[in-house]
Amino acid sequence: MKLAVFGSAGQLGRDLCPRLAGDIVPLTREQADLARPETLRSVLTNLRPEVVVNCAAYNFVDRAETEESAAFAVNAWGIRELALLCCDLDCTLVHFSTDYVFGLDAARRTPYTEADAPGPVSVYGRSKLTGENVVRGLCPKHFVIRTCGLYGVWGSGGKGGNFVETMLRVAGQGQPLRVVADQTCTPTYTVDLAPAVAALVQTDKYGLYHLSNAGACSWHEFAAAIFEMAGVQADLTAITSREFGAAAQRPEYSVLDNRKFGSLGLPSLRPWREALAAYLSERRPKAAGGN
Ligand SMILES: NC(=O)c1ccc[n+]([C@@H]2O[C@H](COP(=O)([O-])OP(=O)(O)OC[C@H]3O[C@@H](n4cnc5c(N)ncnc54)[C@H](OP(=O)(O)O)[C@@H]3O)[C@@H](O)[C@H]2O)c1
Repeated sequence: MKLAVFGSAGQLGRDLCPRLAGDIVPLTREQADLARPETLRSVLTNLRPEVVVNCAAYNFVDRAETEESAAFAVNAWGIRELALLCCDLDCTLVHFSTDYVFGLDAARRTPYTEADAPGPVSVYGRSKLTGENVVRGLCPKHFVIRTCGLYGVWGSGGKGGNFVETMLRVAGQGQPLRVVADQTCTPTYTVDLAPAVAALVQTDKYGLYHLSNAGACSWHEFAAAIFEMAGVQADLTAITSREFGAAAQRPEYSVLDNRKFGSLGLPSLRPWREALAAYLSERRPKAAGGN
């Protein structure tokens, strides 16, 4: 089976490619640019993959508030073209989405299932929701996988580092850290997500899936756990999202219920604390901040 992987140089792409079974063709933005949808047909017709895995996205959550068309160009309209092409070429399309498709229900405090109505509170969230919808509407053989708070050994190329590395770097510089305590989700280690995706792709159980590490925490609780496990003394203060003042609103609660994935008989991802401990022992500090 031939699999073409868009966004292969990103945080998730780097951990997913070595875990997928088959003939893997890793594609970078230079080889396959979702912002130039008119170029995608020739890429796919030349490769003729059975499966297209899309790890690429416009991921700048705050910048998207003022760059709506750039976010939609990649996350919605580029994905629409990809979905149309996959349908045309009879490929399976594996596409990643986000817990940021939720948030509008501010009172919500129980994990979201795939049957829950989404309601994003940011431009990024709306662009990703549109991307989900075009995949689900246009490409019958699809897996749309919503995940949450990714961190991986390679760091997030587009954003430079990941949350864990940022916490350790700032604490290491002796600077105080103010981290939001009113956003609850499930940070997810890409090394745990990748084999679960690889196993799902082996099935023909197409559809929408929630996939994250288990449990839930606020970003402040996650930061505290990082410092506790890494044995780092940090000047850490809990603040509100309002005090933090990010350009984009985030969900107060966006924990994803993973039971649909579990019902396939595939192994659930471990609790977020165990995943964090594994990351801290497996990380390569030099890799933080880029590729
Ligand atoms: N990171 C998170 O916390 C998080 C949470 C929930 C869901 N997700 C979703 O998970 C998926 C993977 O995220 P990630 O953290 O691995 O992201 P990432 O590290 O930022 O990687 C994204 C990749 O997409 C590529 N890319 C950006 N624009 C592109 C374009 N126009 N055409 C082709 N490639 C393009 C980037 O290439 P360059 O290196 O050239 O920029 C990069 O390699 C995304 O769908 C994201 O929305 C992420």
